[in-house]
Parts: sequence; C-alpha cells; structure tokens
Amino acid sequence: MRQDILEYLLAHKGEFVSGQKISEHVGISRTAVWKHIHALKKKGYVIESFTKKGYCLQAAPELLQPDVIRKGLQTKVLGHTIHYYEKLDSTNNVAKKLADQGEPEGTIVIAEEQTGGRGRLSRSFFSPYGKGLWFSVILRPDFSPMEVSKMTLLAAVALTKAFRKMGLTGGGIKWPNDILVHNRKLVGILTELNASAERINYLVMGIGINTDISQQDLPRELREAATSFAIEKVPVHRAALLQEVLRQLEAQYMLAKESGFAPILEEWKNLSCMLGQMVDVILPNTTFRGKAVDLDETGNLIVMTDEGPQKVIAGDVHVRPAVG
Ligand code: BTN
Repeated sequence: MRQDILEYLLAHKGEFVSGQKISEHVGISRTAVWKHIHALKKKGYVIESFTKKGYCLQAAPELLQPDVIRKGLQTKVLGHTIHYYEKLDSTNNVAKKLADQGEPEGTIVIAEEQTGGRGRLSRSFFSPYGKGLWFSVILRPDFSPMEVSKMTLLAAVALTKAFRKMGLTGGGIKWPNDILVHNRKLVGILTELNASAERINYLVMGIGINTDISQQDLPRELREAATSFAIEKVPVHRAALLQEVLRQLEAQYMLAKESGFAPILEEWKNLSCMLGQMVDVILPNTTFRGKAVDLDETGNLIVMTDEGPQKVIAGDVHVRPAVG
C-alpha cells in the first residue's frame, strides 16, 4: 500500500496531488493516506502538505542500492558481493548466516534500517531508516584467532582515515572501537568471530556510522552521547562514504596481511583521542582511574594508575572531562 502511494507520488514528483486523488487511486481512506505519508516522511522522503492542495513529493532519500555502491568502487575484493535489505534485525546476524553457508571474503550485508542492531556488551544500537550506514563485512583472514581484537583497531583506523578524506577532520579513536567527535560517538564497530582453537573460519565486522541523524532523531538517552555527520554539519553522501570506508578498510587489511599489525597499532596511536587523557576504566567487578598512556603489541590499553601500569583487555573506558 505504502509502495503504491510512493509510486503515485514519484510519478507526480514536484506537483501537488490531493489526498482525495491518492485515496481513490490506492483504494484507502484519506486518513490512511495521511498515515502512510507521515511514515514516508519519517523514512526521509521530503513531502510538502497543504490542506487545500494535498501532497507534493520534493525529494526522495538516496538509497544504498547495490548498483549505486558498485559504481566507482575502488576495491579489489571488499563490497563486490552486496546483500541489500531495506529492513532487517541486524546485518551481523545475516552476515553470520551467509558466512556459515560459505559466502566469500569481502561480501557485505547492508540495510537501510536495523530493528535489532547490536553493539558490544549486548547493548542495542540505534539504526533508523536511511540515516546511517549499517553494514557488515565478511572476512576470512589467515590470522590466529588471538589477533582478532586487533581487527577492530584496524577498522577504527580505516574509518578515521575515511572520515578525514570526506571532510570530517575532528574525529579521534576511543579504545577499543568507537570514533568520537567532540566527545560524542559517531561510529560503533562490532567484530564477531567464528573460529576453532587454531584458525579463524570467518569474522564478521559490523560497522554503524551515523550520517543523517539529526539531534531530534536521537532517543533521549543518546542525545548527549551520540553525534552524526549531519549534527557535525559535514554533508556526506552515504554511498560515497561507504566506498571510501571500504577502500580504506581493504588498504589496512592488506597492510596487516603483508606486514603484520605493528604499523596499524602505530597509526591507531596517532589517531587516538584517548592517549594522554585521564580515564575511568569500568570492568565487571571493579572500576579504576588513571592516565591512558599506550597500546601494547596485542592492542590492549595501558593505563597508568597510582599503583603502576594496568593492562585493559576488555571493558568500558571513559575519558574524564577536564576539571576547571
Ligand atoms: C558498539 O557501539 O558497541 C558497536 C555497534 C556496532 C553496530 C553495527 S551496525 C551494523 C552491524 N550490525 C549490528 O547489529 N551491529 C553492527
């Protein structure tokens, strides 16, 4: 039904069509038409409405159709196979199923909206329709499963470089997997692994980037904590951003395959917004404070406390706001 209304509006793009005409065309009441129009607006369609004139479709959101992404994609492997969905629970869930069925390295799963987007520590991840890049990449690296945590750091490096290319210069990496701008989260990365003791079968790298989310779109609990390209006033085309992210991810991945993770960890340190800052480390059973001073060769964060250096392997780390 909504599709019929959309097609009618698209056929009359830029013109006003009355609610009555649409309701006759589609065979539903004018109130039902109004409800569908409201839902389309929430999906990013720009529709003007005036009581006497009806509705006028002015702009449709740029969707991430596979042919749009492939056009101009500069990668050798990443993103050559694309599974596109308007709506699903989580791109990581679908990517894991596909990987179990033997889907090749480099395949991506992308959705306009996730209804069950997931983050680290079983948190949910806000992923509204058409307002971000919500996608997962299937990788089959020849690394030891012990190296996997470094893949998240690799992704953070690639993303930060891609953002700088796209004009967003202020971002920095917060250990282990967030990219912050003005101390608010722009990106989340969730790496999930299927492995035996000695080898990785596959790895699903799920990435969520807030692009078009406005301050009003954010749920109350995220208003202080999250940001987006739109909130930072850096206009970006989602398809172009995705292409650049895939290009940078592939470049860092190839580098790790050829030279190991050492150069990537060095780059991570350069791009971090956390090293040198006072932090609170929150672990399941304890909390401590100190200064984030380094990454070790396995990607753990080293925090200098009054009792000496502490290694942080997992957990939440918060940069403490400067006092005074
Ligand atoms: C985090 O912030 O803790 C990680 C968030 C990761 C979100 C992305 S969005 C695409 C992919 N699908 C998911 O369900 N999660 C990841």
